[in-house]
Amino acid sequence: MPIKGIAFDAYGTLFDVYSVETLAEELFPGHGAQLAGIWRDKQIEYTRLRTLCDHYADFWQVTEDALEFACERLAQTLTAHARERLMGAYAELTAFAENAQALQQLKTMGIPLAILSNGTPRMLDQAVTASGLGEFFDHILSVDTVRRFKTAPEAYQLGPDALGCAASDILFVSSNCWDACSATWFGYRTIWLNRYGLPLERLGVQPHKIGTSLNDVADFARELNA
Ligand code: LAC
Repeated sequence: MPIKGIAFDAYGTLFDVYSVETLAEELFPGHGAQLAGIWRDKQIEYTRLRTLCDHYADFWQVTEDALEFACERLAQTLTAHARERLMGAYAELTAFAENAQALQQLKTMGIPLAILSNGTPRMLDQAVTASGLGEFFDHILSVDTVRRFKTAPEAYQLGPDALGCAASDILFVSSNCWDACSATWFGYRTIWLNRYGLPLERLGVQPHKIGTSLNDVADFARELNA
């Protein structure tokens, strides 16, 4: 069955969150990698807790809360300057090098493209503008409209609603394995971009395809729509 749309996760999938690590190392020498790791893990943990307990705060707030936690955990003082720079980095993330070309190929195939992310509309708007990828996307979907983060079904439902077809007609793309697995449970066709050579999550479900970059999405879409 051909696909009728593609929905992309944003952070780590389209936008390289590793620039944050470089900046963290500059601001907290010797702690950059650990800080970036705790920051990202806490950020995702807070999205899940807030959704499970129905206490929504938007992704910007959650990201800032996680940053505070990570600094205190590593006994580092988060100055106003460091806070501003690290949070500001989220607005200026670079896109992965292959993105524009792969997205162009998908556009040429006539497939509508969407971003479906936990990020706030403002964060996504800034990241899309900074990376110059805006022209490729027909929809930029933020879970902020349903006030529940992925992996809530209401969040994944934004894709079918915007693209006007069933989840099974949409290819969902994420570099976060938990996101690709949960989207598979939801009913999407899925590809996990294992950019960092990580093991598959043990959840009893597998993404339909595993790749390493957006080029693999273009190849998979060609295969599905041949
Ligand atoms: C997002 C995070 C989960 O963009 O990467 O939704």
